[in-house]
Amino acid sequence: MKIAALLLLLAAAAAKDPYPKACIDCHKGPMKLSVMLAKPNPALAAKVQPFAPAGVKLTGKHPAVTAAYKSIPAKCMPCHSATAKTTAPMPKIMHTLHSGTECTACHKFNPATAEQVVPSGPES
Ligand code: HEC
Ligand code: HEC
Ligand code: HEC
Repeated sequence: MKIAALLLLLAAAAAKDPYPKACIDCHKGPMKLSVMLAKPNPALAAKVQPFAPAGVKLTGKHPAVTAAYKSIPAKCMPCHSATAKTTAPMPKIMHTLHSGTECTACHKFNPATAEQVVPSGPES
């Protein structure tokens, strides 16, 4: 019994991470963020609205952010900081839009620092 449990743990540890680069490994092809955020999307804005600063009404028209798609999510963060005045902070947007997604699809453990980090990279 104990050995079976240990083997299960080892198997889980050895399982390959399907999204080692997080965002950009999932958001490909028609799911590319440069494609998804290019179209006005009031339904998306409505999901994020509860986390926007008081008094800000989201339109669902995302500004053009060509440079940001070169390092996702690092280059999304400055506009979507905790103190952003015109839109919601990135962690709240991410967590509310991916509430059914496993944490480790985005957060990767760095054994050297014992921190969970979200890696960034360019769209391909
Ligand atoms: C495991 C796969 C996966 C990962 C990893 C992932 N996403 Fe997503 N994301 C999805 C799915 C699925 C949706 C819902 C798509 C839909 O509604 O058609 C989504 C929706 C979104 C949306 C809303 C797009 C829209 O037009 O509705 C944004 C923005 C987004 N993700 C950004 C990100 C960012 C930034 C990261 C990394 C921090 C990330 N995602 C990581 C799967 C993923
Ligand atoms: C130049 C600043 C800026 C950058 C960079 C930026 N955003 Fe935004 N974002 C905004 C603003 C402003 C809004 C509010 C737009 C609205 O709805 O009126 C917004 C809204 C959103 C929304 C809610 C939907 C909407 O249109 O309101 C999502 C999701 C989002 N951003 C994701 C991202 C992702 C992912 C990145 C990186 C690829 C990113 N943003 C980079 C400024 C930025
Ligand atoms: C779709 C990608 C994605 C998923 C899935 C995700 N996160 Fe995050 N999370 C982020 C991003 C992006 C940030 C902001 C960047 C950073 O802090 O490194 C963040 C930040 C955080 C933070 C610190 C900032 C804050 O205010 O919340 C915590 C804590 C956190 N996540 C916990 C979780 C937990 C727990 C889960 C699973 C239940 C989870 N996350 C799932 C993308 C994700």
